[in-house]
Amino acid sequence: MNPLDILADLERRAALGGGDERLARQHAAGKLTARERIDLLFDPGTFEETDKLVVHRCRDFGMDEQLIPGDGVVTGHGRIEGRPVFAFAQDFTVFGGSLSETNAAKIVKIMDLAMKLGAPVVGLNDSGGARIQEGVMSLAGYADIFLRNTLASGVVPQISAIMGPCAGGAVYSPAITDFTVMVQDTSYMFVTGPDVIKGVTHEEVTKDELGGAMTHNARSGVAHFAVPDDRECLALIRELLGYLPSNNVDDPPRVETADPIDREDPALAQLVPELPNQPYDMLDLVHSVADDHAFLEVHRHYARNIIVGFVRLAGRPVGIVANQPACLAGTLDIDASVKGARFVRFCDAFNIPLVTFEDVPGFLPGTVQEYGGIIRHGAKLLFAFAEATVPKVTVIARKAYGGAYCVMASKHIRTDVNFAWPTAEIAVMGPEGAVNILYRRELETAGDAAALRAQKVAEFRQKFANPYIAGAHGFIDEVIRPETTRRKLIAALASLETKRDRNPPKKHGNIPL
Ligand code: HXC
Repeated sequence: MNPLDILADLERRAALGGGDERLARQHAAGKLTARERIDLLFDPGTFEETDKLVVHRCRDFGMDEQLIPGDGVVTGHGRIEGRPVFAFAQDFTVFGGSLSETNAAKIVKIMDLAMKLGAPVVGLNDSGGARIQEGVMSLAGYADIFLRNTLASGVVPQISAIMGPCAGGAVYSPAITDFTVMVQDTSYMFVTGPDVIKGVTHEEVTKDELGGAMTHNARSGVAHFAVPDDRECLALIRELLGYLPSNNVDDPPRVETADPIDREDPALAQLVPELPNQPYDMLDLVHSVADDHAFLEVHRHYARNIIVGFVRLAGRPVGIVANQPACLAGTLDIDASVKGARFVRFCDAFNIPLVTFEDVPGFLPGTVQEYGGIIRHGAKLLFAFAEATVPKVTVIARKAYGGAYCVMASKHIRTDVNFAWPTAEIAVMGPEGAVNILYRRELETAGDAAALRAQKVAEFRQKFANPYIAGAHGFIDEVIRPETTRRKLIAALASLETKRDRNPPKKHGNIPL
């Protein structure tokens, strides 16, 4: 065979992966192939494949008869919206996409390059886990990847898509990355599968219940996004990358926007209901202020009492953290605290300014929360906001009570600009709770306890349920009219564009994990 024919033959075999029959099975399962996924992820014609001809080195179990160029993973780099990105896509048609020594080395190679060049890494996971025939060599490969995931954390954005099985130790690479997207019905993640669980704990559970997309999006919080199919998964990754800088020393990408920076929204003046305990949808505020009303919500199905995600303001990416009064009255519980903290730390690591919308009556009370460690978990959110040095702007829409006032990006933990709406209520606790404690004896002995309570609650509300005491102390920089919120936020962020702040030199802090 002449040299060009040899190359053509190798390339043909690499492209064929596990063969036509397995490729057909992949399609029949509702999944795209690794190469089809890569094509959809990158700008057309920009992907350059690396290590296409790598084969495994296993000589046991008849493996020396089965050498497939590429060895079950497509690796390389290309452009997404013109910016460089590295990616790997496990090919389930080759040994079930299982991770071999050589296939891990291919992934490690692109991760090392991505870190040197300052480009994001996207992993498209579809794999039966460690390649059983290779034993410890495969485990070593996983550990090599975990190390790179850890070292790259906070240096370049890392995104994992789960587009098929992801079992055993394989789940820990996605878990270290910044965002995990799961495809509904075709993907699952678990440390041990249903059969092992049945043997050990006698629990009966299906794969989907145990580790399907909605389990990890709504229950465990392991995944950040659920999408209906492969195409939407890849489109979402492209959209998400549009909000992120390429690395921790770049600024997030700006886009042109036709949405006027001084656009006012009169509806916001009516957003907060007259009755203090009546819920409303904080998403209305988020959508109202965002450029073109566009909000990419992260962790939408998990801990819905807090909202996190990305918007653009005057074309510039901003991270949103917002209490959601429509769920658990917007209280902070364990899950919400962890969700918020993780998002705040991501934004801080990647120079994305933070805007906080606040309406929080406090931490969720109860034994479930206390025994679960709300003190430690709530402290994560406090730590994350306090540690963050990116531009920080807060808007208190209604309640800002107790410890939750301090935690939710208050002035005291280095928030640069603190706004409040005239409807803001800032106090140690709500009027009813305060009156019950302060006037317990009087209420017990009063002839008309209800009237006394109502009078004291009204007094308390009059004194504290407003933003003006905090304003008088400079803890609130300005009480703004709700309809002007977008304009005010954009002006504040513009003034903070050159912000430089840093934490004391240290190896790293000790966030209460
Ligand atoms: C080698 C594997 C494999 C593996 C699947 N295959 N998993 N080959 N090592 N881990 C091969 C199968 O032999 C088969 O080859 C092809 O991939 C497709 O597999 P099927 O079983 O036919 O597919 P399906 O019915 O869809 O089931 C997929 C699956 C199942 C659920 C992933 O294959 C499975 O349970 N695999 C083992 C999962 C596992 O326990 N992995 C180890 C986890 S522990 P042919 O030639 O027939 O096409 C781990 C430790 C990591 O990963 C620790 C890191 C710290």
